[in-house]
Amino acid sequence: MFKWKDAFSVNVAEIDKQHKKLIEIGSKLAHILSLKDDIDHYDEIMEILENLKEYTVYHFNYEEELMKKYGFEGLKAHEREHQAFVDKIIELTTKDIDDNQKKVTMDMLIFIADWIENHILKTDHKYKDFFNEKGIF
Ligand SMILES: [Fe+2]
Ligand SMILES: [Fe+2]
Repeated sequence: MFKWKDAFSVNVAEIDKQHKKLIEIGSKLAHILSLKDDIDHYDEIMEILENLKEYTVYHFNYEEELMKKYGFEGLKAHEREHQAFVDKIIELTTKDIDDNQKKVTMDMLIFIADWIENHILKTDHKYKDFFNEKGIF
């Protein structure tokens, strides 16, 4: 979970860099959850979720602007996927996870990891050849 794989590469350096950063934020969350202590990590979890939200918004905007600039036809569908993820993260940050923290955080972690992996491998990969053909690497 949250490990960079070469298969993630979209062959655009800046976007690969941003995806690595997203995976890094996810791995911080995974790390906190793996701690076998009885300390309440609520504040740290919330802080990481906030970081994740901010960084995904930044990253999604970057991709969307690039798609717009070069007239990528899959833009609208791509934007919808991005928005759904941001909405979900906002929901998670406003939800009360103080009770049953381990369970809720574990579910959240699995959701985030699956979403990022699937989105990069399926949706982001749709623009890979398109951008490369436009000379963007
Ligand atoms: Fe992406
Ligand atoms: Fe994307």
